[in-house]
Amino acid sequence: MNETSPTTQAGDLVQLVSPSNKVYLLRLKPGEKLETHRGVLAHDDLIGVPWGAQVFTHKGSLYFLLQPTLNDILREIKRNTQIMYPKDIGFVLMSLNIAPGQVVVEAGTGSGALTTALAWAVGPTGQVISYEAREPMHNLARKNLERLGFLERVTLKLRDISLGFDETGVDALFLDVPNPYDYMAQARRALKLGGFFGCILPTTNQVERLLPVLHQHYFAFVEVCEILLLYYKPVYDRLRPTDRMVAHTGYLIFARPVAPHERSAQAEPATLGGEPEGEPDVDDSEA
Ligand SMILES: C[S@@+](CC[C@H](N)C(=O)[O-])C[C@H]1O[C@@H](n2cnc3c(N)ncnc32)[C@H](O)[C@@H]1O
Repeated sequence: MNETSPTTQAGDLVQLVSPSNKVYLLRLKPGEKLETHRGVLAHDDLIGVPWGAQVFTHKGSLYFLLQPTLNDILREIKRNTQIMYPKDIGFVLMSLNIAPGQVVVEAGTGSGALTTALAWAVGPTGQVISYEAREPMHNLARKNLERLGFLERVTLKLRDISLGFDETGVDALFLDVPNPYDYMAQARRALKLGGFFGCILPTTNQVERLLPVLHQHYFAFVEVCEILLLYYKPVYDRLRPTDRMVAHTGYLIFARPVAPHERSAQAEPATLGGEPEGEPDVDDSEA
């Protein structure tokens, strides 16, 4: 083992992964213990250990000590709602241009999967304000964020967004509610001009309903897309896709709140920007 490898510290979020892929996610706290179905591990024995090391329970069962990715963290989130999938969240973070120090509003909080990713992306200097209408979801999201150490970056509000958002001039706003078309006036008031709007919807019917409302409220540069992720079995002499895939989660819709056109008779804000270009053209002339 390389002696210069960085080691774990008290307070780190770590994951223990068994050879059969059973995963435990925990924050290291001196004096605490983790009880697994294959024996007990003292946190003290996991502090100051190189990342990637093998560690053993009191019964001698093996786990690997790994730094969890955001993807790992989101998979382990306790949930009482459908949560957004990492494949969608990754593209949302890029498309809403989420970066350290930004102020982002979202609804509904649900179990807090997207909230966690937003908190991770805005960093300690940013703020996420998350609205949720139902108390059980609001409470579970709070527990999840507290356990992961992200609560300081997040303000959780128990409120139906039909009553509006308190914030104005925010950098980005995302809606994961079934009827975003009913809240576009509220979203428009909260966002700064030229900011970033996004939402996720499971059916094309809902997307069809949203598009004209975006137009009415001067959201332009509209994009609609769907992210498909196919895993492969990593077997060197039998490389092939896994047998099952998550075929559909939702459609992602992105748009920018722009100034109403001066000559409003000709204004076509929702179509500004024309057809989305998608991936840059590939020169296949040599193929
Ligand atoms: C699918 S869940 C959101 C999941 C969340 N994005 C995540 O990744 O964990 C949708 C949530 O929106 C909430 N919701 C629906 N309509 C709402 C409204 N008008 N105001 C606030 N929350 C609302 C629901 O109670 C539910 O918890």
